Amino acid sequence: MTPMTEDDLTQAVLQRLSDAKDPRFKQVMTSLIQHLHAFIREVDLSPDEWMTAIQFLTATGQACTDKRQEFILLSDTLGASMMVVMLDQMRAARRNAGNGGHSPTPATEATVQGPYYWEGAPILPLGSDIAPGVPGEPAFYSGRVTDTRGQPLAGATLDIWSGDGEGVYDMQVDGAGMAARARIRTDTQGRYWFWSIKPSYYPVPVDGPVGRMLDGMGRHPNRPGHIHMKVYTPGHVTLTTHLFVANSPYIDSDAVFGVRPSLVVDFESHPAGKAPDGRAIDTPYWSAHYDFRLEPA
Ligand code: BEZ
Ligand code: FE
Repeated sequence: MTPMTEDDLTQAVLQRLSDAKDPRFKQVMTSLIQHLHAFIREVDLSPDEWMTAIQFLTATGQACTDKRQEFILLSDTLGASMMVVMLDQMRAARRNAGNGGHSPTPATEATVQGPYYWEGAPILPLGSDIAPGVPGEPAFYSGRVTDTRGQPLAGATLDIWSGDGEGVYDMQVDGAGMAARARIRTDTQGRYWFWSIKPSYYPVPVDGPVGRMLDGMGRHPNRPGHIHMKVYTPGHVTLTTHLFVANSPYIDSDAVFGVRPSLVVDFESHPAGKAPDGRAIDTPYWSAHYDFRLEPA
């Protein structure tokens, strides 16, 4: 028998996939094995280093609970989540282009969902304050939801969530109910408006293995101020995105690589007085305007 080389080893592992039933699974696993073997060879990984990696992945699994998903945080901080989001949106756009693509304006860009989405937020009327009593500076949000041809989408839902003005999400507070979240529906002209707070930057959770990894990489764990939304209506691709506060700290170095220039919004400051919705407001406030475009399904 001829001695086995490193190349032979890779080929031997790939051979064992010859009976894989699902072609897509076979394609993904083939590529994974090729890249994994090439990576181990490229960095000349030692047994101690491989054991460190295995212990890290074990600790990542052990840190997961029904409230915490450390593997998603790992994916987020390595840019893998954002890569999947970007490819998925490009796939939808390509599909429409292939269908006689009518889209003169691309859909609003998507970004990561993150761990703080909570299904079933209250459905509130247009113009509501979705964060009463939540610490933070008031902000008035408004804009329109259209399709990629600019046709208004009446009755589209914006499912909105954010941390408070100090960067803390309701889900991070033991026993707290929903706060700074709501579902709002657009009017007959596709318009929306609501009040919340101006969100602050905040760190992703760092008290687990991913925090240790970031520290080892010499990276900060912060995300710039942002408000999340899922925007959806039947017949259109659901958009999961954020609006980022222009000039927020960390706007150029988001720990999860979610910032896209098209999602950065100027928050305008206003003195106390009559707000754009006619309401009298006795403190200074901010306003942010953004129009969302949804891809036809
Ligand atoms: C967030 O924006 O809520 C988030 C996203 C990824 C990791 C941690 C938090
Ligand atoms: Fe967030």
